[in-house]
Amino acid sequence: MISGAPASGKGTQCELITQKYGLVHISAGDLLRAEIASGSENGRLAKEHMEKGQLVPNEIVVMMVKDRLSQTDAEQNGWLLDGYPRSSSQATALQGFGFHPDLFIVLEVPEDILVERVVGRRLDPVTGKIYHLKYSPPETEEIAARLTQRFDDTEEKVKLRLKTHNQNVSDVLSIFCSLFIEVKWCLLFMIIIQIKGNRPKEEVFTQIDAALSEMLQQRNTDPSSLLS
Ligand code: AP5
Repeated sequence: MISGAPASGKGTQCELITQKYGLVHISAGDLLRAEIASGSENGRLAKEHMEKGQLVPNEIVVMMVKDRLSQTDAEQNGWLLDGYPRSSSQATALQGFGFHPDLFIVLEVPEDILVERVVGRRLDPVTGKIYHLKYSPPETEEIAARLTQRFDDTEEKVKLRLKTHNQNVSDVLSIFCSLFIEVKWCLLFMIIIQIKGNRPKEEVFTQIDAALSEMLQQRNTDPSSLLS
């Protein structure tokens, strides 16, 4: 699972992680934007909340994420959950459905940097790739001409999204930290890492990659040896 403030680099790191590890990237934000694009009533309600930088109600988000996690590709290849859970109730629901992360990655980036990243972000509707006009510009003129901007990527809206993030982040972290201490399976199999995301994306990925490799190595050893 990967967590962090708006524009902390979750989607960017997910691209790099899935390229190397073949996991299925499941982004709560992308699922919601697909729902909006479908023109459904849930999509209409979701957009109302996203426009205000608020969390979309659990009635819409929780089952949407659960259904995607339950699909065959995620079951077979493993999943990389991005932007979920964002509240203690979402974390509890995830545990209740039996989905347990092996690694919980938290990206930390100072707020002034986040605003600049949001305003400069562009998306390629053809490949789904994330760009930044300054930090990660498009490779060709052809790509540059077709880039789009998200409806919630304005300075005004990102400040609202940040406020919502700051209100909820400690709840989510504390629920996973308490599980980490109290529950044996967590002690055995789940690791929480906090990573400074205000560095070039390749450097951030190197640290994530090291944590994933270490976790996989531990998986291949006898787990009972970790009990002593
Ligand atoms: P969501 O789509 O998840 O947005 P977010 O959390 O605000 O995160 P972003 O997608 O904006 O940023 P990111 O961290 O992926 O950064 P990125 O890699 O693109 O959610 C949108 C909304 O949906 C929420 O506000 C909420 O309303 C709703 N929602 C979502 N999940 C929900 C849930 N669980 N419950 C209820 N509601 C929910 O990078 C950003 C930019 O920075 C890019 O331009 C990139 O090129 C650049 N960049 C990335 N890394 C670096 C780097 N290391 N150095 C320089 N530039 C970088």
